[in-house]
Amino acid sequence: MCGIVGYVGDRDATPVLVNALRKLEYRGYDSAGIAVIGPEGLVVRKAKGALRRLEELIATETIRGSCGIGHTRWATHGEPSDVNSHPHTDVSGRIAVVHNGIIENHAKLRAWLEGRGVAFRSQTDTEVIAHLVDHHYEGDLLKAVVAVMGRIEGSYALAVVCEDEPGKIVAVRKDSPLVVGLGKAENLIASDVPALLEYTREVVYLEDKEIAVLTRDRVDFFDGAGERLSKKPSHVDWDVAAAEKGGFEHFMLKEIHEQPKALTDTFRARVDGDGKVNLSEIGLDESWARARRVVITACGTAWHAGVVAKYAFERIARIPVDVDIASEFRYRSPLFDPSDIFIIISQSGETADTLAAMRMARSSGARVIAITNVVGSTLAREADLVMYTWAGPEIAVASTKAFTTQLMCVYLIAIRLAALRGALADADAARLVGELSRLPDSARAILDRQAEIQRFASQSFNKSKAFFMGRLFDYAISLESALKLKEISYTHSEAFAAGELKHGPIALVDDSTLVVAICTQRELFDKMDSNIKEVKARGATVLVVTFDGESYFDATADAVFRVPEAPGELTPILSVIPCQLYAYYCAIQRGLDPDKPRNLAKSVTVE
Ligand code: G6P
Repeated sequence: MCGIVGYVGDRDATPVLVNALRKLEYRGYDSAGIAVIGPEGLVVRKAKGALRRLEELIATETIRGSCGIGHTRWATHGEPSDVNSHPHTDVSGRIAVVHNGIIENHAKLRAWLEGRGVAFRSQTDTEVIAHLVDHHYEGDLLKAVVAVMGRIEGSYALAVVCEDEPGKIVAVRKDSPLVVGLGKAENLIASDVPALLEYTREVVYLEDKEIAVLTRDRVDFFDGAGERLSKKPSHVDWDVAAAEKGGFEHFMLKEIHEQPKALTDTFRARVDGDGKVNLSEIGLDESWARARRVVITACGTAWHAGVVAKYAFERIARIPVDVDIASEFRYRSPLFDPSDIFIIISQSGETADTLAAMRMARSSGARVIAITNVVGSTLAREADLVMYTWAGPEIAVASTKAFTTQLMCVYLIAIRLAALRGALADADAARLVGELSRLPDSARAILDRQAEIQRFASQSFNKSKAFFMGRLFDYAISLESALKLKEISYTHSEAFAAGELKHGPIALVDDSTLVVAICTQRELFDKMDSNIKEVKARGATVLVVTFDGESYFDATADAVFRVPEAPGELTPILSVIPCQLYAYYCAIQRGLDPDKPRNLAKSVTVE
């Protein structure tokens, strides 16, 4: 959500900025812009719509200059429009600012600036920053930015340039990500690493309220008071190609197909040769076994991983679990016990509500385990323990491989915690680990049969509504599957626990309804069969997801998709895959781009 880039070096800044912004498109945006300082002074170009519109705008001119900043905006304050796009400038047009986040006290600051005669051009909260930097500027951009930090409240990643100090970018972050890329005779900044990889692999992650001052030859770091800091660079060892499509038509399909490998990577790093789960890497030791409760918070797909986790922890580790949506948790006066274990799940590690929940948990004295995909993300840096999902970069907005690897992490933690608590016999733990090790191959077998799902999607994509139902672990996967379908195919879809069918949803079932019944909990097959008959009797078309060789639902369902057999608590990793594929192929059938669903962002860094 919003992307920031900045470049200073020997090259022409404009193509570098546009190229880097393209690598951030996955974050979701509705307009784009650049500001470059060159012989003509500060030149700003910006346009509503896709990056291609900005490229068309600048195609007929040569913007000279080797220092600049760029931005993809996802509108919060003020509609998507040319004028609301970033960069924003001060009245004289010599200072330009790009911003990711929300300035909470912008209305007060705007009134104050207007009182001093400043005429605003946009409806954005960001524009106040440009005017404030101008107000505090006395020939030193760093000092002006430090002064502005003392006046703005809220979340921000900022990059600022000033015509009077050409060849310099001042960047700072608070609650929004920002990474510095260290090159040879060039330096860069970006909201995320993929934007930097074409230029460098040496990066420095900024912490909250840290400032970077970039010039062609050096990057200096300062704290929020302007005191000098020393920061250690990290080396990025994943490949640029890993962030590209690799022959698939869309990132989403590529990422769905990467699941067997991603699951293997997540699993292998945590299981010893003797088949025992070893989480010493993340530091999960005996001291965690004393907890009386696990509390899980997350948003979106990651929250669905949390719902699976609740069922898994209760069944495997016999420990009570509360699971909550982070945006609810942070405002509902939750009760804490210092012995609670918090598990915070987030693909990006940057979701604003999720970070707020994590910080509440930590300030209550509880210990926090983060499950995240992004190395060096804010969540990873602030949690007590971090378990990386090792899924590799996930570019498509709809989360797929991040979800199944989150589940793999959940199972590994549950098994380890169960062992520490004496809740699981060694033989049972070994059996579960053995079953987990088989899941990547089972996932591969499902992907080999994707044509069956593609065919069913081509027959049913135009249903006006879709319901997903299941019980226990299948209910959790119903939630995730309904989200996938609505996110990328814009089909009205809902999920419910199948036992709730009679308490409301059945009133909506008619012959325009698709019902996907997820049936992998053997002990509840008969209950599911009754539910399927109830919706069939009202005209619904029913797709059942169940096990290979299982004919229980053949007589009732319109179509059956089969996944390899697995123990009931582990089936979510498998049963979600046909549903991901179904959502993908429905989007294709409807002529939509599954990688860039309307109104959605990959990483939601504002409330
Ligand atoms: C956005 C994305 C979802 C994601 C959610 C939580 O809504 O579109 O795919 O599940 O944010 O993101 P996180 O990075 O915290 O997992």
